[in-house]
Amino acid sequence: MPTQTETVPALDVTRIRAQFPSLSQTVNGHPAVFFDGPGGTQVPRRVIDAISNYLSRDNANSGGNYPTSRRTDAVIAAAREAMADFFHCAADEVVFGQNMTSLTYMISRAIGRDLKSGDEILVTRLDHDANVSPWLAMAEDHGVTVRWAEIHDEDCTLDMADLASKINAKTKLVAVGYASNAVGTINPVKQIVQLAHQAGALAFIDAVHYTPHGLIDVAALDCDFLVCSTYKFFGPHMGVLFGKREHLERLRPYKVRPLSNAVPFRWEHGTLNHECIAGITACVNYIAEIGHESYRERQEPCRDGRLGRPASKASPNHLTAAETATGKTERRHALETAYELMHEHESALMQRAIAGLQKIPGARIYGITDPTRFHERCATLAVRIENHSPLELATRLGERGFFTWDGNYYALNLTEHLDVEKSGGFLRIGLVHYNTPDEVDRLLAALQEIVGV
Ligand SMILES: Cc1ncc(COP(=O)(O)O)c(C=O)c1O
Repeated sequence: MPTQTETVPALDVTRIRAQFPSLSQTVNGHPAVFFDGPGGTQVPRRVIDAISNYLSRDNANSGGNYPTSRRTDAVIAAAREAMADFFHCAADEVVFGQNMTSLTYMISRAIGRDLKSGDEILVTRLDHDANVSPWLAMAEDHGVTVRWAEIHDEDCTLDMADLASKINAKTKLVAVGYASNAVGTINPVKQIVQLAHQAGALAFIDAVHYTPHGLIDVAALDCDFLVCSTYKFFGPHMGVLFGKREHLERLRPYKVRPLSNAVPFRWEHGTLNHECIAGITACVNYIAEIGHESYRERQEPCRDGRLGRPASKASPNHLTAAETATGKTERRHALETAYELMHEHESALMQRAIAGLQKIPGARIYGITDPTRFHERCATLAVRIENHSPLELATRLGERGFFTWDGNYYALNLTEHLDVEKSGGFLRIGLVHYNTPDEVDRLLAALQEIVGV
């Protein structure tokens, strides 16, 4: 981590982009511009290679007594270590699954087994439906009362007073998003976890939208569960859940009898997607390397020039002396630096995009637009432009090579609440670290041309 007097070096975006084969595509002669990160990000070459190499060399089911199966077990164990560094937890608190939605349904069913009529849970109006519908279904099955935290319409932030007023001794769970995939708002999740815990409730965090933009630290948040999807942060199409070990041990999963009862395996149903799990290690290492390189410029060279723990020291109990001092691995330190770099870069892009959009006649940006509050949002912009539906804008931008999204992107409660659902929702422009100022300028020019400025 840089000290306060050190400046954060700029991200080398040319070098970053060279690692992503898909970014060099064209559409109708225009360079493809990927502003669709909130729907899924592109992947660097090393993720593609890791998936391909697994299938070429290691492909087997897990738990067998022959080389490819043993290598498969090692691939899964390495990915668990990588995600433990990513979340800042222990490796046996990492659960792999198909995607965030199915992991949330699984946990909600297990939590529901211990709830009864009269218990309450809290969800929010801002959340993606994957952090709402599983809880509504669980509540219906067990006669649990659902309470809703409302938002401030003017800036699309959570109404914290309303949220706090709806947590009480009957509350058993608070489900909240880390950041909104529609309007970009970053919620004060640490504070929300504290409110939940004061009432004796569990805190479940949907970090799917936050992960490409901000560092996750479940140890600092003290949340009970946190879930994300690796395809939103430069990895393969999978979901990963952090659960505090005590909960993963205590709760009762719906599971088949032969499946191990040990944590975390009891939560991983059926055969996992091993090739994508190989890609998860590569995607965490890709992000870490962004920080690792700049870290190296200012600090001692990293051991062996490699990321993460050496294979012989794969347990958190075997950290180096420097790592023991902080309780963090080198890869964790590198991830911290990487996120600082990505954040600086994305903030500059976001300021440029918001300032430019504000000059387009009839354009309205939903969410925070005050630059002094940009730390409360990430670089995901929900826009409407008078007399142009989001569908029309996304389609015409798509013809020009700009990949954006239109509609509700499953943040249905928000689009209904803001009364934009019937008229096509929003146009969503999602900026991540591989986007450039030039791409933002060209998008603004294309929008001006489409609306006839
Ligand atoms: C904030 C948020 N939560 C949850 C999800 C659902 O994730 P998954 O597709 O992995 O189920 C998404 C997907 O877009 C999302 O943006």
